[in-house]
Amino acid sequence: MSEQKTANAEQSEAWNGATGVKWVRYQDRLDTMLAPFAVALFSAANLSHSDKTLDIGCGCGITTLEAAKLVGTQGRAHGIDLSAPMTGRARERATALGSHATFDVADASARDYSADPFDHLISRFGVMFFDDPVGAFKNLRRALKPTGRLTFVCWRSMPENSWLAAPTRAALPLLPPQPKGDPFAPGPFAFADQNRVTGILSDAGFNNVSFTPYDTPVILGRSVEEALDQAMQIGPLARLLAEHDDATKKRVSDVVAAELAKFLTPQGVSLAGATWIVQATA
Ligand SMILES: C[S@@+](CC[C@H](N)C(=O)[O-])C[C@H]1O[C@@H](n2cnc3c(N)ncnc32)[C@H](O)[C@@H]1O
Repeated sequence: MSEQKTANAEQSEAWNGATGVKWVRYQDRLDTMLAPFAVALFSAANLSHSDKTLDIGCGCGITTLEAAKLVGTQGRAHGIDLSAPMTGRARERATALGSHATFDVADASARDYSADPFDHLISRFGVMFFDDPVGAFKNLRRALKPTGRLTFVCWRSMPENSWLAAPTRAALPLLPPQPKGDPFAPGPFAFADQNRVTGILSDAGFNNVSFTPYDTPVILGRSVEEALDQAMQIGPLARLLAEHDDATKKRVSDVVAAELAKFLTPQGVSLAGATWIVQATA
């Protein structure tokens, strides 16, 4: 008998394992680094007071907490995420702030919210990880009222995002040749291609799909040391290095530090960030 793979099993393992634990550990820094993308998301979403809002792949919860402020206690701000450690952090923050935001640890591609649907689905970098994106977005559309709207922010291509591309490119000559990966595999760049995302959302039943590019520098760290630590711990370079020994990591760390030093500004290590703000109606 062939073994049945559970949907999103690899992502669940990563976000409940080392990756999720690192996101909790670096939560403050990541929230600061990614703050401009939350501002862009909320500016596009234009949530109304008393909206019911679902934050997909909410992680440590900063955007759900912000949604809770915007919709007020007449509204609802609910976050869903696969990761128990990250959602745990989100709940702690909600309690500490006295926020009415709520959280579910669940797979957004399967959790059924159709009995109590939302006015708005939002996400900051939380929708690019589904094994079956059309199936996932069909399920998410059932979580929306017929008048509902979807707004998310996702990364454009890796070359356009030098904050991730530059450290990886510096490291590659020191590592064995990498197999050419599937550009559409679940991961940060899976939604870079506008035509693909339009197809996914249309096949899932969404209407009026639109894309607005949003580009802003990403401050990877206040110093080269902080930026280096971030690049070595989280993201594509960290994944490439996971199986390598300490000597290799040290050699890589030296060349990546030299590369990052080129981008040091008075604000910190600043490289290009490039995203789509994607919107659609139910
Ligand atoms: C790049 S992180 C972004 C976290 C958060 N939105 C933020 O901006 O800080 C991606 C998040 O998506 C979550 N995720 C991935 N696949 C998911 C799924 N199938 N259902 C729910 N959450 C998922 C991960 O656990 C992770 O927290």
